[in-house]
Amino acid sequence: MALSCLLDRLHSVLIRAKSRESDNLGAMTTLRIDPVARLAGVLAVPTDKSITHRALLFGAVSDRVVTIDNPLDSADTGATLSAIEACGVQVEGHLGGRVVIHGRGLRGLTPRAGIDCMNAGTLMRLLPGLLVGSSADHVILDGDDSLRRRPMGRVATPLRRMGAAIFTSPGGLPPLVISGGVPLRGMRHDLEVASAQVKSAILLAGLFADGETWVSEPVQSRDHTERMLAAAGVDVRYDNGAVGIVGPVAGLSLPDLMVPGDFSSAAFHLVAGALLGDPEVRLTGVNLNPLRTGLLEVMQRMGAGVKIARSADIAGEPCGDLIVRRADELIATEVAPDEVPAMIDELPLVGLLGAFANGTTTVRGAQELRVKESDRIAAVVRALRAMGVDAQEHPDGFSVTGSGELPGGRIDAGHDHRFAMLGAIAGLASRDGVHIEGFEAAAVSYPGFVSDLRALGGGV
Ligand code: S3P
Repeated sequence: MALSCLLDRLHSVLIRAKSRESDNLGAMTTLRIDPVARLAGVLAVPTDKSITHRALLFGAVSDRVVTIDNPLDSADTGATLSAIEACGVQVEGHLGGRVVIHGRGLRGLTPRAGIDCMNAGTLMRLLPGLLVGSSADHVILDGDDSLRRRPMGRVATPLRRMGAAIFTSPGGLPPLVISGGVPLRGMRHDLEVASAQVKSAILLAGLFADGETWVSEPVQSRDHTERMLAAAGVDVRYDNGAVGIVGPVAGLSLPDLMVPGDFSSAAFHLVAGALLGDPEVRLTGVNLNPLRTGLLEVMQRMGAGVKIARSADIAGEPCGDLIVRRADELIATEVAPDEVPAMIDELPLVGLLGAFANGTTTVRGAQELRVKESDRIAAVVRALRAMGVDAQEHPDGFSVTGSGELPGGRIDAGHDHRFAMLGAIAGLASRDGVHIEGFEAAAVSYPGFVSDLRALGGGV
């Protein structure tokens, strides 16, 4: 394709994204959360976002028709559903219920010229791993303003080393441009930063490569991709902490699957329960993959023990119920760098717990938080301070000195779903209540958050 034509196409994607941003601003909602004396009840939290993204993507390239029960119905996973449809995949049913995906085979995707990843980093980082094996011809992947600030060179560079035609915009940022069908070679990648999204993109590209593709990480990140590829018949190998596959792979046969509850969504209610659970808050059917549940150990250390009632595995992942009650006393803790990957999305909640603990709670080695949906180090410190808490920023983390109470105030979610929900939990346990501007961001992962809070007795 001529460069001028490619630039025209890029330009029209940029214009569409701009008008979408202004629509979002028009729909800003402010939520006021009043303090409550206690929370109690049983809740089935929304299903797992990471697993839903993968089930939709791997179903799309499966050799069979795949049925997925309880895929998460959220803005992020909606983007992935639309993306696979934009790749020519026929889908029946709806998110939140049952989705039937007519897989087109590993090399059968026929993507449209532009794919909108909206706010979904997992989509923008995993999809390239599949598009390199498709008939993609200069396909452009773009997203909203927040996604456009997130680093994509970490995916494009290793895939290009394997031979792929994938290019970022200046600064290693979105939009991405990808063409498929170029011969790939397998190789070893030693990641400097633990990242399940980067690891997944490389392993997916490895399905099309000649020879072995290996990925090692400084600390192992969540392994949903490895588990799901193995369930789909791929020979996933482990050696000395690295994970590998041998390509090229003929096809995937993803079995029908059910999506378990999302630990990262449960985490908000876990923290709420540790502050206000009386007699207790019970969260059912939660994915307890040990590479996701680091928060449980940190809560235990802080004096907020969570009881676990294991149930049967779901989708090849360990699952169970989590039961939590108000802690008598919270004690400050230090989160070490090697603990970060297993609680990467829950670290801001550690800051919130720290506000109620005796002493100073510190998180280090978490510089990755700066390149999430927002700069979550700056955001957690800004939010806690706005609510009257003593918090300090470090280049690679933050410290929070607890005073036993959180006065309250007004925060801005900053288009980051996890801060919308953190603000709400803070409000419940606050002295004077919390206003959250831009609360609508919660729908990125948890559209029913407010009604679930109400069900536990949260005064919304
Ligand atoms: C995810 C991996 C993590 C996490 C994100 C979901 C995934 O990102 O923060 O919310 O589904 O693989 P990184 O891979 O960038 O650490």
